[in-house]
Amino acid sequence: MSDTPVRPVSRRGLLTGGALAAGGALAGAGAARATAADDRRPGEPEPAAGIGRAVEPFHGPRQAGVTTEPQAHAAFVAFTLAPGTDRAALGRLLRLLSDDAARLTRGRPALADTEPELGLLPARLTVTFGFGPGLYAAAGLDERRPPSVADLPAFRVDRLQPAWSGGDLLLQICADDPLTVAHAQRVLVKDSRPFATVRWVQRGFRRAAGAEPGRTQRNLFGQLDGTANPTPGAGLDAAVWVPDGPAWLRDSTTLVVRRISMNLETWDLLGRTDRELAVGRRLDTGAPLTGSAEHDEPDFAATGPDGLTVIPDFSHLTRAHVTDDRQKILRRPYNYDGAPTADGHADSGLIFASYQADVARQFVPIQRRLAERDLLNEWTTPIGSAVFAIPPGCTEGGWVGQQLID
Ligand code: HEM
Repeated sequence: MSDTPVRPVSRRGLLTGGALAAGGALAGAGAARATAADDRRPGEPEPAAGIGRAVEPFHGPRQAGVTTEPQAHAAFVAFTLAPGTDRAALGRLLRLLSDDAARLTRGRPALADTEPELGLLPARLTVTFGFGPGLYAAAGLDERRPPSVADLPAFRVDRLQPAWSGGDLLLQICADDPLTVAHAQRVLVKDSRPFATVRWVQRGFRRAAGAEPGRTQRNLFGQLDGTANPTPGAGLDAAVWVPDGPAWLRDSTTLVVRRISMNLETWDLLGRTDRELAVGRRLDTGAPLTGSAEHDEPDFAATGPDGLTVIPDFSHLTRAHVTDDRQKILRRPYNYDGAPTADGHADSGLIFASYQADVARQFVPIQRRLAERDLLNEWTTPIGSAVFAIPPGCTEGGWVGQQLID
């Protein structure tokens, strides 16, 4: 975008599609400034440069927020489409939300942003769009729905609550600044109002940006969580992205969101050794019980003096372990920590979010093995579940979902 004044564009114009057709160079109320830096008053100090101003590109063949280094804060916002939100209306909604996301991720206020100052620090904001089964049905495009984008099979560990489950449309909003997340959520929810209602919102967090650069995050059990994720050049692409197929599938992926409550009170009763046996890794270094460093290969056959395997056969590590790249999943979880109940019980857990090319091929077999027998089940309970297709990204002037809906 340039600094030159541009013809103001109304929200109505955008909703009817005229504005975007007029060209990608849009600027609305509050969006007249090109960069966040231009907004400073004379003498005003530059904000924490590295964090506040950092930008993750919104446009590209694949959506951001999937293989993006996880930001510190997240809001997962699931919507139920309003009756009558058909294919044409979905096009208008997705065009509008894509325009909001394109602006906010650059540190520009949204069109007619009522708090434009809150749009100026992107802090690596990403807005990732997910399509639930109901969206394909509403658009009359069920034949284009990836078959495993559907309710998961029931698992015996599940205690699912409707309040945390399902959804026709998901916006995963992540940034290194919580105010940025809150503002983006507000704008996106406001603009979706004519088309959809909020079904659930899950807010989560990881370590603050810059607190432990390059380190694996810890969950609320104190474990390093994310060690065995596929990495660029080592299985990431094969695990996550659909390599070919029609335009609405190529460069897409899928997202499973599970809200998993963690019983910190009973976990607290466990000694350190038992905690480490339950997962199969050490709490301090994250090393497998057969190794000494976090990324050492676990040796599942190694036995101790008692003749038992050093890493218990029912440890989380043993049950979840996958060697074939095409069967792996990319975990991108966030911690949640609600207010304790009146009798002092913690409301804590993990917003487990995993990306994989195919839910049925990759996620389901792992979850099945864990549901059957995973020592961690003693302290964890899935209370919410949802599956979304993550369509390909879009180019400047385009919108997410265009390949599917247009
Ligand atoms: C609150 C629930 C959970 C907790 C606290 C948890 C914790 C952990 C920890 C500490 C590790 C070892 C370090 C690492 O590689 O990240 C791990 C690994 C793993 N977890 Fe979980 N996890 C949970 C739920 C799940 C679920 C629901 C799945 C999938 C269905 C899953 C799949 C995996 C996989 C695939 C690995 C890597 C195993 C390997 O190949 O080494 N986890 N998890």
